[in-house]
Amino acid sequence: MLTWKGNERVLDIGTGRGLLMIGAAKRLTTGKSSGIDIWNKKDLSNDTYEAALRNAELEGVENKVEIRNADALDIPFADNNFDYVLSNLCIHNIGSQRGRSVVCREIIRVLKPGVPH
Ligand SMILES: C[S@@+](CC[C@H](N)C(=O)[O-])C[C@H]1O[C@@H](n2cnc3c(N)ncnc32)[C@H](O)[C@@H]1O
Repeated sequence: MLTWKGNERVLDIGTGRGLLMIGAAKRLTTGKSSGIDIWNKKDLSNDTYEAALRNAELEGVENKVEIRNADALDIPFADNNFDYVLSNLCIHNIGSQRGRSVVCREIIRVLKPGVPH
């Protein structure tokens, strides 16, 4: 449902083995798709940085992704940085309401202002 120009900066929070990060990267030309995760083995089997990188390589998008070991509660990117922030089956794994609230504020912080056209 998103409009893609190909130059977007995209962040996938809780990328796991890279599903949404890679899906976004396939829609990019000059853009970059970043994925962050803490690789919690309880949330996903074979949940590793290496698995995400390997899947990006298998899908031929390794040059369009950037994978970082980082917590959604403290996203290591500057304010107003991303056109799109994606996340699938991650935020509900954050135990406290306060924690989920912090993540939502972090998402707002790193998103560029305005609605993409
Ligand atoms: C059920 S998996 C989903 C993975 C992927 N989004 C997908 O759709 O295949 C949930 C992911 O969220 C990650 N996760 C949980 N808490 C996190 C946090 N505080 N910061 C970053 N990632 C987190 C887990 O490590 C796991 O990789």
